[in-house]
This record gives sequence, structure tokens and C-alpha cells, in this order.
Amino acid sequence: MTDTLPPVLDVAGLTVSFPGAGGEQRVVDGISFVHPGGRLALVGESGSGKSMTARALLGLVAAPGVVAATRLQMDGSDLSGLNESGWQRLRGQRIGLMLQDPRHALDPVRRIGSQVEEGLRIHRRLGRAERRDRALSMLEAVGMPDPLRAYRAYPHQLSGGMGQRAMLAATLIAEPRLLIADEPTSALDRELREQVLELIGAQVDLRGMALLLISHDLPQVAQHCEHVLVMHRGRLVESLPASRLADADHPYTRMLWQCRPSAATKGRPLPTLNMLEAQT
Ligand SMILES: Nc1ncnc2c1ncn2[C@@H]1O[C@H](COP(=O)(O)OP(=O)(O)O)[C@@H](O)[C@H]1O
Ligand SMILES: [Mg+2]
Repeated sequence: MTDTLPPVLDVAGLTVSFPGAGGEQRVVDGISFVHPGGRLALVGESGSGKSMTARALLGLVAAPGVVAATRLQMDGSDLSGLNESGWQRLRGQRIGLMLQDPRHALDPVRRIGSQVEEGLRIHRRLGRAERRDRALSMLEAVGMPDPLRAYRAYPHQLSGGMGQRAMLAATLIAEPRLLIADEPTSALDRELREQVLELIGAQVDLRGMALLLISHDLPQVAQHCEHVLVMHRGRLVESLPASRLADADHPYTRMLWQCRPSAATKGRPLPTLNMLEAQT
């Protein structure tokens, strides 16, 4: 017997493949990692397989995609044998998903309040008044300046930043164990990105949840996570504490890290992967 809790995620040999003209194409190629809790970042350039990894963890890879893993566990329980209703329960109760653009994630013809309450309607037996109270306090918790107005608004009536706050509220209200945020700020302008990432981090800590923060922007997410996984062409090439990024060994990690704007790079082109590959 051990008294240590199992990790939030324990993943080994995770592969997502698609049939292609030249044979099977592995867009996620045998990755292994542990999410111990707290805030973990998954970074890599566009197309490296980050979203497919998230979809595999949520049971959302659609045919003809095929998911395989030697281990796929959450809080010590096996996910790989789940049927569709098991995955639905997992998505509604244990893992929340926040995406880049609220205009795709929120239903345009339903008021925000009703969409925030959704997680309560499906999974909790509460009266209408209590659902409404909880939704309003959640809208307040995510920093809506006028929660009642947001509650009554339609998605198109909110700005991008407010839309992301509404989506966070809708995700948090079911009290999931793990929040997967896939490029949650990529559609926002720079100043708002910081604010929204800070909000996500603060809410996750406050509620004792785990965070998997997915982004192509390593310097930005590194400030908001304790540990970083770096993905390149379907593989994990690096796993290290955020505090050690400046000393990373892998050239790809170094390249992503150097993409941060600073006095030294001002006025000079930022490095690109092609430049890196020309060197190796
Ligand atoms: N339905 C699909 N069929 C075949 N390949 C796909 C499909 N969806 C995505 N891919 C490929 O999988 C790779 C990884 O995609 P994705 O996980 O979305 O990358 P990221 O989120 O890191 O930008 C990309 O090369 C993409 O072209
Ligand atoms: Mg993606």
C-alpha cells in the first residue's frame, strides 16, 4: 500500500493515427507523460499534435482517426476502455475543455446564462433559482464586470475577452478535476492574453483543479505553468520545469524559447523552424 495519490493523468505510448495515401500517418507518435496536478503546459508549433493529444484524452478523435495507448489513466482509473456514454460523463464531470474561440464553443442563439448553467442542469439536481445563483456567482468569479448583464447576453454581444471569460465560467461550473485549455487566448490581443491566462491560473488554483494549458507560445505559457512539455511532429522532445527553460538542451525548445520578444531581438527577425533545420 502507498498513500500517494495517483497522478491526474498517466499516459504512455499514446498514438493517434490516420490512414493516408502513403500508409498510416501518426500525428501523435507514442507520447508518454504524467500530469501530477498543478499547472502543466503542452507547447509546440502549429500542427505538432497538441490538439489531437487533447482530443485523445477526451475521447474526441473521430474516425478514421485511431487512438492507441499502452496506458491512458486519469486519477488511477483506466480511460481506454470507456464507451461513448463513459466519455460523455468524463467530459461533463471530470475534464473541462476550453477552446480558442468562444464563437465556436458557445451556441450563438442561447443566452450566456443558460449555457453556463448547462453543466449544472445535466449533472446536478438543483432548482432553477439555485442554478441561476450559481451561474451568476461563477460569472462574477471569472471577472464579468456586470454578471447579470452577461447572464442575459447572447455570445455575439460579448467582446472576445468577455467571451473567453464566459466559456471559462461554463467550463468551471461542473467542477472538473482537470481543465484542458487549448490555445485559450490565441484569438485575443496581447494584453488580454495575459489577463485571461492569469484568470485561468488563479481559478484553477483556487478550486484545486489541475490545468493542461496548450499553446504554441512557449514564453507566454511558461509564466503560468510549473512544468512544460514540448511537442514536435507528434513526439515529446522535452519535459522540464518552467524555471529551467532558459537552460533547455533540446534545440527545438531553445528555438521556441528564443521566440520571446526582448530588447535583444527587437528589430531582428524571430527564428523559425526552417532556420533551425538548416543548422541541423
Ligand atoms: N482529420 C484529420 N485527418 C488527418 N490528419 C489530421 C486530421 N486532423 C488533424 N490532422 C493532422 O494532425 C496533425 C496534428 O494536428 P493538431 O493536433 O491539430 O496540431 P496542433 O494542435 O499542434 O496545431 C496536423 O498535421 C494535422 O494536419
Ligand atoms: Mg491545436
